[in-house]
Amino acid sequence: MSDTGEEWQVARRRKGAARKSKPIQGSSHSTCCQEQLDIGKTVKRIRDTVSELRCEEFCQQWKGILSSEQVLVAGSAALSKPPEDRDTEGTTDQLGSPRDGRQCQQLECVCYGLGSFSSCVSARFQLAMLLLLLDAGQIPLRDCSVYDPMFSSGERDVLRELGLTVLTENEEGKRLVTKPTLFYLMHCGKALYNNLLWKNWSTQCLPLMIIIGNSFNGMMDRTIEREFKRDYSYITQAVSVCEEGQLPCPSRLIDIFSDTAVITFPTSSLNKLPQSTWAEPPEPQYQHCPDLEIIQRETQS
Ligand SMILES: C[S@@+](CC[C@H](N)C(=O)[O-])C[C@H]1O[C@@H](n2cnc3c(N)ncnc32)[C@H](O)[C@@H]1O
Repeated sequence: MSDTGEEWQVARRRKGAARKSKPIQGSSHSTCCQEQLDIGKTVKRIRDTVSELRCEEFCQQWKGILSSEQVLVAGSAALSKPPEDRDTEGTTDQLGSPRDGRQCQQLECVCYGLGSFSSCVSARFQLAMLLLLLDAGQIPLRDCSVYDPMFSSGERDVLRELGLTVLTENEEGKRLVTKPTLFYLMHCGKALYNNLLWKNWSTQCLPLMIIIGNSFNGMMDRTIEREFKRDYSYITQAVSVCEEGQLPCPSRLIDIFSDTAVITFPTSSLNKLPQSTWAEPPEPQYQHCPDLEIIQRETQS
């Protein structure tokens, strides 16, 4: 990993500590790296990184997520499932087909906040891991949507060349799920997670989501409690009902994959919350948030 031009260069942290997202200013378009990108060369570099990661032991454990019981339960959470079917829920065979005869629905994937992978080693490794996860979960590349306002046009071309779907709109993370969806948000701003939770704030939608991203518990521990509750109320509420499984990371890749968890929302936990929790959830505003870590969509004047 001797690349130069690291965009998100960070000082070494103690093991397990998370990267503090940098406050982001400026326009929604990348101003650096506007020089022509060699698409073929960049694709090759990404494929080489995939090959490098594939051999890592921790990578096998990450890929195992997509066949784990926890995730298959989320993946097979059917919106129309009658409550009496719940006794048999969660038992699956090795191939992920539920033993009660229900078909495990195909996952789709959304990746926000990857960063400038043509110049940033961390982002390139995270992209390589995404490709390995898609492969492990047999998620077709076109069913994976990626968005980062920092992507240059060359980077968008590279992502399309890889077969991924590049989103053109800044959704601010406010994407409503209609089927089981894997969200891959590596070291992203808290507002992105909070917006995602808000948009899917129901006992029907949350169980369809699997998030690979920063631990909610970790976020809470590192933020002043009063501000966390005020600005990130959906993460605050989700902490008590989500299941978090910490993902391993070798020390030499700590800056790239640290503090990452797989987060799911079991229906049984959500049902323990009072009904009032779900009534008319207000859209997050962040007007008190001095260092909002995400780029918001440009408002029309
Ligand atoms: C702290 S950086 C992490 C970059 C990279 N994943 C890493 O770990 O080095 C946060 C990323 O979130 C992106 N981001 C900010 N607002 C976003 C939005 N509205 N939608 C998607 N990504 C966003 C930023 O452009 C940036 O690349």
